[in-house]
Amino acid sequence: MPRKILVTAALPYANGKTHIGHLVEYIQTDIWVRYQRLRGNECLFFCGDDTHGTAVMISANKQGISPEEFIKKIHADRIKDFADFEIEFTHYSSTHSEENRRQCENIFLKMQEKGHIKTKIIEQSYCEHDKMFLPDRYVKGTCPICGAEDQYGDSCDVCGATYAPTELKNPACNICGNPPVKKKSEHLLFELNDFKDFLHEWVPQHTDRETGKKLLEWFDEDLRDWDISRDAPYFGFQIPGHKDKFFYVWVDAPVGYIAASQEWLQKQGRSMEEFWANEDAEIYHFIGKDIVYFHCLFWPAMLKAADLRGPNQVFVHGMLTVNGAKMSKSKGTFINARTYLNHLDPMYLRYYYACKLSSTAEDLDLNTEDIISRVNSDLIGKITNLASRGATMLQGKLNADLVSLDEEGQALLAKSQNVKELIEGLYEARDYSKVITEIRKLAEEGNRYFDVKQPWKSIKEKPEEAQQVLSNVLNLYKNIAIYLKPILPSYVEKVEKLFDQGAFTWADLDTELKAKAIQPYEHLAGRIDKAKVEKMIEESKENKEAKVQETEGLISIEDFQKVDLKIAQVVEASDVPEADKLLKIIVQVGDSKKQVFAGIKSQYKAEDLLGKHVVLVNNLKPRKMRFGMSEGMLLAASGKSGGPFLVTVDAGAKSGFQVK
Ligand code: MSP
Ligand code: ZN
Repeated sequence: MPRKILVTAALPYANGKTHIGHLVEYIQTDIWVRYQRLRGNECLFFCGDDTHGTAVMISANKQGISPEEFIKKIHADRIKDFADFEIEFTHYSSTHSEENRRQCENIFLKMQEKGHIKTKIIEQSYCEHDKMFLPDRYVKGTCPICGAEDQYGDSCDVCGATYAPTELKNPACNICGNPPVKKKSEHLLFELNDFKDFLHEWVPQHTDRETGKKLLEWFDEDLRDWDISRDAPYFGFQIPGHKDKFFYVWVDAPVGYIAASQEWLQKQGRSMEEFWANEDAEIYHFIGKDIVYFHCLFWPAMLKAADLRGPNQVFVHGMLTVNGAKMSKSKGTFINARTYLNHLDPMYLRYYYACKLSSTAEDLDLNTEDIISRVNSDLIGKITNLASRGATMLQGKLNADLVSLDEEGQALLAKSQNVKELIEGLYEARDYSKVITEIRKLAEEGNRYFDVKQPWKSIKEKPEEAQQVLSNVLNLYKNIAIYLKPILPSYVEKVEKLFDQGAFTWADLDTELKAKAIQPYEHLAGRIDKAKVEKMIEESKENKEAKVQETEGLISIEDFQKVDLKIAQVVEASDVPEADKLLKIIVQVGDSKKQVFAGIKSQYKAEDLLGKHVVLVNNLKPRKMRFGMSEGMLLAASGKSGGPFLVTVDAGAKSGFQVK
């Protein structure tokens, strides 16, 4: 009976581009899904963008577009990136969907109904200028422990201390630079500890040993409440029954797994319960070890509260390092998916990650020398070499005809068949590095046989003997290609064309190729050119020097945003008797009035200004002048041929409007 499997990979944040670290996970999952399908199982693969939260809201703001527009652009790029790496989802969705909103509301209402939600007043950093509560990473200041400057609100990079953002010295809002204040607000908390016993049993059954062990350390004490609400403004879903409260992004993100399944299944006329409320189906989440807490504590508890089934297993992988260190923009090892594609074939990365991935959550390293050597010496030199030498020779002089296997050919084929169950187990356990080892051993076997038989010699005097050898070798290669199919789908598609027998299935491992002509050999794969790898690294480098030159004299958007420009209306204006250039002007800005001394008397009579809408620098430090306080500045333009002319605004702009 074919299995019914639903697989998810973590939903990438919509506030950044896809990079080669992400690809570890999506390639790992894609290989597993392809393997399951090759075995004849129904295997659905769901993913989507994780779109909500403060970071997306702020990034969109900076670009002057709505968060909806912002996530749309990211979505389009993402879909292209994944397609180019041959990562094939059943459905790639987004957490910003109506389906997800409905699912979130339902799950939340269940949690509330069953008494797992409570409220609490919490004090947090708040920016009065940006009118928002600031997440930890949006407050910067001096570390309260070691005094290092410019540290984030959650931890210090210098001494490693962790603290609350309200403990920072000289805190500043990371968006506008103003000092935040402390402000209280009511939050909704999910009482995770209600699920302590359930989780204590659940965790070891649904995670690998290492991950389970780490998680169980939290169980010595009560599990802490989880703050699931955020105050407006927040890009996310409104919490039903709680005005101006939004679900914290980590609430609606995993629900996105359900929503994505629902969207697709419904289109097929099927229901989400077929998987999420059916113990005969299997569900697996692929994630990185940085998000274990969310997937193995909060998520199963949420599902439990909502009477939905949880995953059979959470498969956790480690983090990618490049050349032994964390990916770094200055070293050029923070490589975006698109940059990689500009230089190298995606097949190399799929092959290399397969060489490195195992069933544990150990970190894995992409070493640039190593990827070149593994691809060039193994994938090209050993594996592909069998096909290119075998097929071209067969086509050259022997009418491209394959013949039936002789005893030696049978023995070679049997060698590949003998490791079938082993390889099945390794794929199932995500131990791809060992799959590759088995494949490489088979290729070495084939090359040895080829070299001993020297068909390039016999082809002249004894063409039948050569034909037999080549047929034997190509039959072995056929099985190697089937084993490789989940890892290198488009490469193997070319092999399928070469043998002209339709798409390979797992059952094709058991049979020999039909005795018939092969198709013209199409180039399968080329060697990695070291220069291209170097170029890719070069392009990924954040070139500090060039940057400085480019931006010298320029201000950042943050600098510009520090200037608070408001529309103001002139309500009083009079001459200043002691000063012949100045007018004293009172402007109305929203609800307040401000006094400004403006040097525009040469152009304007006081009475002509009344009622005019002008632009005021609203957050200028007040300055004491001889005639009184000046509490702002009006924008005016002047040039060689005249001025100053006040900057006025088009009809419709009202006093108090923000200029940006
Ligand atoms: N949005 C959350 C996941 C929500 S799932 C309901 C998130 N996004 S992420 O973009 O930061 O990461 C997506 C996945 O990629 C995570 O599983 C993460 O572990 C993985 N990786 C991100 N960087 C990685 C490396 N450098 N190395 C390996 N995996 C990495 O977390
Ligand atoms: Zn601010």
